[in-house]
Amino acid sequence: MPDNRKARRLTSKLLEWYEKNARDLPWRNTLHPYGIWISEIMLQQTQVATVIPYWKRWMQTLPTIQKLSRAKPERVLKLWEGLGYYSRARNIQLAAKQIVTEYQGVFPENPAVIRKLPGIGPYTTGAISSIAFGLPEPIVDGNVTRILTRIFGIDKNPKDKDTQIKLWSLAKTLVCSTEDCSSLNQSLMELGATVCHVRQPECHNCPVMRSCTTKRKNMIHLIPAKGKPTRYEEKEIEVYVLFRGRNLLLQKRPDGLINAGFWELPNNETGPKLKIANKKEPIIKIRHSITKYRILLKAYSTNYNKKIEGKWCNGTDIRKLPISASHRKLITALSKQHKDFTQIFTPSTLKVR
Ligand code: ADE
Repeated sequence: MPDNRKARRLTSKLLEWYEKNARDLPWRNTLHPYGIWISEIMLQQTQVATVIPYWKRWMQTLPTIQKLSRAKPERVLKLWEGLGYYSRARNIQLAAKQIVTEYQGVFPENPAVIRKLPGIGPYTTGAISSIAFGLPEPIVDGNVTRILTRIFGIDKNPKDKDTQIKLWSLAKTLVCSTEDCSSLNQSLMELGATVCHVRQPECHNCPVMRSCTTKRKNMIHLIPAKGKPTRYEEKEIEVYVLFRGRNLLLQKRPDGLINAGFWELPNNETGPKLKIANKKEPIIKIRHSITKYRILLKAYSTNYNKKIEGKWCNGTDIRKLPISASHRKLITALSKQHKDFTQIFTPSTLKVR
């Protein structure tokens, strides 16, 4: 644990560096807790460059907590389409409704109250409290973990409970050693994102290189320690392509599944296996990864079958509906190469934005 003097020295170097090197990101030009909240949720598991257009579109379409609370869930999903982890979008809307009913539509300022909102954990509580309200609340995410384990030479698995406690306590000491809690927390994220990379960190550009135990001990490749590797599961899904005239059949994924509420072609993950007209080869195969799953979608032309239900969609419907990423990939690929599709949809009619 650094003493107060050491903490202040680190903090002042980080702040000085951040002032000169912070990227100009759109959510950094607002102090509005709503915009900061949306950015922090979008930035979980998603790169900054991907988030920028999503954040801008979201803030234009749903500029207030009130508008978000009243929006159709399908509209909210559509704004999130492509970002993945859709429970994030559903929780944002649940939280917005709660803020409207319980806090008169005003984002709460108390960290303990923020923490209780749906979809908000300790990281997001710290980020919103410090960035929007200037409070000395710590943050620990992947970037901050890398910075802190390296500076302090922590070689234990950062996911272990004891190490987590230590990291949160270090982050708290640092954020309490300055008045500018917002910039301090953002400097940690920023240094992790732009200098202290997982592999080949740019130590020569690091403002705290001289204080970095890991650099001094030449242990960069060992810290942070890696946990168990993820075990991936292979999944193969049959997808059924059914046309009625110029319309393609889509179905809504039922509640309770990953990607619930998104539209897809019928498939044997969410419905029964169908008879395939002349089951030779699939008309297309698409690979897609989601969380721990490695999915292979095999699409087959299928004869119209009265029993199967869904929505018959033209190009405009397909463009406007929220469609899961793997099926959007599949439909777009077919619109470029398969005769049933190229006569009806072009990639540009299907282009989402
Ligand atoms: N990652 C998480 N939060 C961030 C932020 N506010 N700015 C840049 N990257 C981030």
